[in-house]
Amino acid sequence: MTLLSIDNLTITIAGRTVVDGVSLHVEHGERVGLIGESGSGKSLTCLATLGLLPPTASATGSITVEGAQVIGASTRYLHKLRGRTVGCVFQEPQTALDPLTTIGRHLVSPLRAHGQLRPGSARRTAIALADMVGLPDPESIIRRYPHELSGGQRQRVMIAMAMSTRPSLLLADEPTTALDVTVQARVLALMGDLTERSGAGVLLVTHDMAVAASRCDRIVVMQSGRIVETGTPEQLLTNPREEYTARLVDAAYATSWQPARERIAVAA
Ligand SMILES: Nc1ncnc2c1ncn2[C@@H]1O[C@H](COP(=O)(O)OP(=O)(O)OP(=O)(O)O)[C@@H](O)[C@H]1O
Ligand SMILES: [Mg+2]
Repeated sequence: MTLLSIDNLTITIAGRTVVDGVSLHVEHGERVGLIGESGSGKSLTCLATLGLLPPTASATGSITVEGAQVIGASTRYLHKLRGRTVGCVFQEPQTALDPLTTIGRHLVSPLRAHGQLRPGSARRTAIALADMVGLPDPESIIRRYPHELSGGQRQRVMIAMAMSTRPSLLLADEPTTALDVTVQARVLALMGDLTERSGAGVLLVTHDMAVAASRCDRIVVMQSGRIVETGTPEQLLTNPREEYTARLVDAAYATSWQPARERIAVAA
């Protein structure tokens, strides 16, 4: 059964069609990159998959996760879906973390919310999760607060939370855009490593063709609410059909020239 199946998804906000007939699929264990210019509808596609569209938006079409329909699903089902079947990591971890809650409490919160935390095991579990994502000195870091961590460390906390419930699908919406380049590479490598080990499928939203090409099995290109091209990294890098895809490839070479060349060489 297909892990994530989005079919003919159309999203309208205030009479404006912002996602227009999008169909995309992620199989178990597959890594799919979703790339496109700002405002092309990438985040709304992710939010719709989590049943988290703004109340002003209306969606038609179908989104199934492991066969179950998300559009119009009950609050109860959506709660189970989020943070259990689907883990998510967003761009800015600072806003997703509660400044008054310790790192340790954050780390175990998804397991707790889904009744999967064994009584008396919170501290041990938090330490294990901090360790899993390479946070330094897990025993002391779990007692600290989000503002005491670097951006990269906070994003590691978000990844640990997202992966803690062993989701079958990880949705990552520009997970490293707010981080500097060297930290970006390490955080992406960590995500790749953890999802590969758990067998989770990944939908990775990015602006950067170099990132999509090096991290994904397949890339979906969006422009103005529509999918304009889909292919393997090799196809899109060497033989893009669309002018827009070619521009994304050129931009990747231009903006992260050396790193992009190295990553593309690894991917090809
Ligand atoms: N809550 C909202 N109310 C009204 N319009 C919205 C809302 N959220 C998104 N939009 C509009 O929908 C379109 C798609 O937005 P979306 O956030 O999905 O783009 P994106 O591809 O994720 O862009 P970016 O790369 O900048 O994150 C944009 O034109 C945006 O202005
Ligand atoms: Mg976005």
